[in-house]
Amino acid sequence: MLQLNVSQLINSIKVEENNNPQKPKEGSTRRQFLGQIGLAGVGLQLAPLISKAAGVAALNNALPAESITLNFTVNSTKKSLMLDTRVTLLDALREKLHMAGSKKGCDHGQCGACTVLLDGRRINSCLHLAVMCEGAEVTTIEGLASGGELHPMQAAFLKHDGFQCGYCTPGQICSAVGLLNEGHAHTDDEIKELMSGNICRCGAYNNILYAIKEVQNA
Ligand code: FES
Ligand code: FES
Repeated sequence: MLQLNVSQLINSIKVEENNNPQKPKEGSTRRQFLGQIGLAGVGLQLAPLISKAAGVAALNNALPAESITLNFTVNSTKKSLMLDTRVTLLDALREKLHMAGSKKGCDHGQCGACTVLLDGRRINSCLHLAVMCEGAEVTTIEGLASGGELHPMQAAFLKHDGFQCGYCTPGQICSAVGLLNEGHAHTDDEIKELMSGNICRCGAYNNILYAIKEVQNA
């Protein structure tokens, strides 16, 4: 894995500078020193990105490009898709089926914006390969309403203002539906704990809690 550290970066800067015939080899100025430290800082910031990009590239090189036909059900409709085996469920939904309700926040399983229901259980669709859904039933935010009626959880989010910008909301609602299917949350603290995988940057947590409790107690 490609790694950078401060001393390697500063040493490489020094070697390069000492090999540069146009630069004085000794007596570096304060400005030069600060410049080196600044570059080291940039290097530190870029290191994780470079490492991740190298990892993704290595993975893509390691796995052969192969396509398969995936047969599954999305929002009660049977779908058949020709897919690269490396495509995530989230990308299949958004880019192949053009269902943009499930949101891509972090793409790393950390924010919950991509939450959908797979056979009734909530999952992060960004961490799930589409090919793992063969024969499964996927429900997205687009599939919760029925016959022109909002799902009770959607209606409760509206009633309690369980959102501001709305970016996390499809994931929050799908996760809340999954939470009630699981039946493990009985107190406010348990609801908060079991919804903690869904991040809301707008901080609408209290209203989300009120919405979930309303549906739970209905
Ligand atoms: Fe999937 Fe953040 S986009 S968890
Ligand atoms: Fe904006 Fe949750 S409503 S991130």
